[in-house]
Amino acid sequence: MIDIKISEQTLAQHNTKCRAIIVEQDFDVNTVVGSVDKQTAALLKAVIEESHFTGKTLTTVTAPIIEGDSVSHLLLIGIGKRKDSNSLPIESYRRVVGKIIRIAEQHKWHTVSLQLPPSAWFAVDDLYLAQQTAEIAKIAIYVFDKYITDNERKSHVKEMIIAYNGHDQAKLERGIELGKQVAYAVNLARHWIDLPPVALHPEEMADIAKGIAKENNLKITVFNEKQIVEMGMGGLAAVSRGSDRDAQFIILEYDCGNKNAPTLGFVGKGITFDSGGLSLKPAESMETMKDDMSGAAAVLATMDVIAKQKAKVNIIGFMPMSENLPSGKATKPGDIVTFYNGKTAEIKNTDAEGRLILADALSYAEKHYKLDAIVDLATLTGACAYALGPYFSGLMSQNEELVDALMQASQVSGDALWRLPLNDDYRPAIKSPVADIANIGSKRYMAGATTAGLFLSNFVEKTPWAHIDIAGSAFNVPDMPYYRNEGATGVGVRLLVQLAMNWK
Ligand code: BES
Ligand code: MN
Ligand code: ZN
Repeated sequence: MIDIKISEQTLAQHNTKCRAIIVEQDFDVNTVVGSVDKQTAALLKAVIEESHFTGKTLTTVTAPIIEGDSVSHLLLIGIGKRKDSNSLPIESYRRVVGKIIRIAEQHKWHTVSLQLPPSAWFAVDDLYLAQQTAEIAKIAIYVFDKYITDNERKSHVKEMIIAYNGHDQAKLERGIELGKQVAYAVNLARHWIDLPPVALHPEEMADIAKGIAKENNLKITVFNEKQIVEMGMGGLAAVSRGSDRDAQFIILEYDCGNKNAPTLGFVGKGITFDSGGLSLKPAESMETMKDDMSGAAAVLATMDVIAKQKAKVNIIGFMPMSENLPSGKATKPGDIVTFYNGKTAEIKNTDAEGRLILADALSYAEKHYKLDAIVDLATLTGACAYALGPYFSGLMSQNEELVDALMQASQVSGDALWRLPLNDDYRPAIKSPVADIANIGSKRYMAGATTAGLFLSNFVEKTPWAHIDIAGSAFNVPDMPYYRNEGATGVGVRLLVQLAMNWK
């Protein structure tokens, strides 16, 4: 937990342990030393010179501030240079805020002040800048310490005070509230993802969803495995067969109160553990497979923000939840399943299970709801992770308008997207001699992320739809100052919230 406040006092008047000032590369030393007392100023000037600090991105210097017998620390942190445009990228700011938290954490500085830079640096408004500040500070603080008994390893940064000057106070306050709420949801998703697979099965996820629904007055429907089988959701049923745990199909509905408002469908892959099934994964690939419900976690957490922020669109969240395990009852390579929409697929590899549960969820969504758009989030393919690495999620869609809306939401929210093809040329890759389609693409076509996306496309007939593969970005993202090198990122929450709040 971190407490975030604003203050009109200058940094010199704060009594926090760390006072952070962000500087552009090749900044003028005099503009900075003005905000501290004479003695500190002299020291700071010397330190800057000695360390050849110029304000390059994410470089830092610190100088002690001695007041009586107490010591605090001035922290200068560089945000780099403006490129050809006249503003700095907001992503640079996010990383700087993340890094400030990390430095405070390392030194066990419990309280931090940050001089809020002018919004004009980034060509944004005060509300958004404050939102990003609070959001990132809270995201950076998150640590999965439920099972850690050593107190030293917990995060100890407790308070951030944002010193402002020339900003609009009311806008800052609103921005901070919004940022806190988004970050709270991002961290909720991260917590569910980080929970070990022994602590979170489909049923526990359903219980969590019931809690979220109750808290926010959302309509919730949960189908159990028996109902899933009876309804003809053959994909979700097939994946769930090997597990002793009950599969669940969770549907949450947020009604904005306006009958004429558009309705968006968010679908999240919810495999609480992916062993690969009978097509068993090698040990190393299995290590992180508790993260295979990251899509469902993001959708569920998004519903919380949407409801609290009273978004002006209706949102339906669909979370097919299952566990992919081998057993005497497990689905076998060679099996053929029939999905909710009547189509069939040959299961050539039981490790390509995500598309099977999503197929039913997408068909169900389209059949039972009038949706203006569907976006699905899924840790779907290693191929996507290999293609893009950890810093982008793969966006696939044939609907240009939806792509534009998502790219815009990506830029504003910070959840980075990179488009991958969803071109019909690859469709022959998933032909099957014995069923409508096969659940893995033929090797000759490569492009595993795309062929998985095309598999899904068979289950959305008319609704504008985009598929987002988060296999690389959901977990263990290295070197990003506001994430940890290990654990869940909550990717997708910021994106979906932004998309829903600004839907036109
Ligand atoms: N959950 C995995 C994909 C994944 C890989 C997520 C790495 C996160 C990190 C998915 O169910 C899977 O196993 N996909 C297979 C598909 C293949 C058998 C066609 C893969 O990518 O290897
Ligand atoms: Mn798999
Ligand atoms: Zn999987």
